[in-house]
Amino acid sequence: MIYRQVQNTDLLVSVIGYGGWGAGIKGWPDVSEKKVCESINEAIKYGINIFDTSPLYGNGMSEAILGAMLSSWRKYVIISTKFGLVDNGFGKIQHDLSRDSMLRELDTSLTRLKTDYIDIYTVHFPDGINSLENVFNELLLLKKNNVIKNIAASNLSIENVRIAHSCGVTIIQNKFNLIDSNDVNEIIPFCKANSMGYFAYSPLSQGLFTDKINADFKLSKKDVRRFNPVFSNSNNFSNALTIKESLAVSPLYSSLKYVLETDGVTTALITMTRPEHVRQNVKIIESIL
Ligand SMILES: NC(=O)c1ccc[n+]([C@@H]2O[C@H](COP(=O)([O-])OP(=O)(O)OC[C@H]3O[C@@H](n4cnc5c(N)ncnc54)[C@H](OP(=O)(O)O)[C@@H]3O)[C@@H](O)[C@H]2O)c1
Repeated sequence: MIYRQVQNTDLLVSVIGYGGWGAGIKGWPDVSEKKVCESINEAIKYGINIFDTSPLYGNGMSEAILGAMLSSWRKYVIISTKFGLVDNGFGKIQHDLSRDSMLRELDTSLTRLKTDYIDIYTVHFPDGINSLENVFNELLLLKKNNVIKNIAASNLSIENVRIAHSCGVTIIQNKFNLIDSNDVNEIIPFCKANSMGYFAYSPLSQGLFTDKINADFKLSKKDVRRFNPVFSNSNNFSNALTIKESLAVSPLYSSLKYVLETDGVTTALITMTRPEHVRQNVKIIESIL
């Protein structure tokens, strides 16, 4: 495995990370808990040391599975979880970065993850209500108490990345792949110039750049990708397939190469709910880097 240092932190992270959304099982087709557990074991075996999750993924299922699987490896793994998107139990997701909600979510995440600290605590989305400066200041207090070790923020514009940097945030987690590539212009160069880590999520555009998705793909009502305009809009979907078909080498190889060779990207967080996908992705990145 190849590792990269996140500047200004003691984090040395594998260049591919285990994305835990699929480990929540809900909303991803044909995913089984057994295969998820096998894929987590395979990730550990191949030296993947960063595991990204959220209380939102499967309503806590992803955190619970990762907590159970990683507890004996706790010292060796980097756990990244999030807060700020809360399932209200009636199928609606609420944005809430208030202090009370943050502390409640943190408490529940620590219990599910069977740990007394979080390596990377991530603001999932700005909520448009609480100022990011205030949110980051609250997080700095938690960091002082060692409950969280590092602060990250996700789904930020360049303006918010600047704010995050000025408030002591060391990692940005944003969507970055061959289709959603805007961050290459300003955000990734800013992170590099200011020694911030950049974690790319959805590097395979949620499976589009794999052999799983072709023109026959039907989006089911419960599939998490119904929220992704690349899948939910038929024009976007056919344009995306045209881009995919134009690639000279395999889409999986091309997309991992694009993301991981972009200067400033630290790691690519990939959902892998099958051990063979862990093996295949590790093999590819080792041939690229
Ligand atoms: N901060 C945020 O707001 C945010 C948003 C989205 C995602 N994320 C993070 O980023 C992670 C990854 O993003 P994502 O799940 O949206 O998309 P992704 O990783 O780009 O795509 C996941 C899909 O690719 C498939 N796949 C992976 N390797 C494969 C291979 N070798 N061959 C065939 N198919 C393969 C997976 O299948 P299998 O499951 O069958 O292996 C899964 O269906 C998430 O798990 C989460 O941790 C964060």
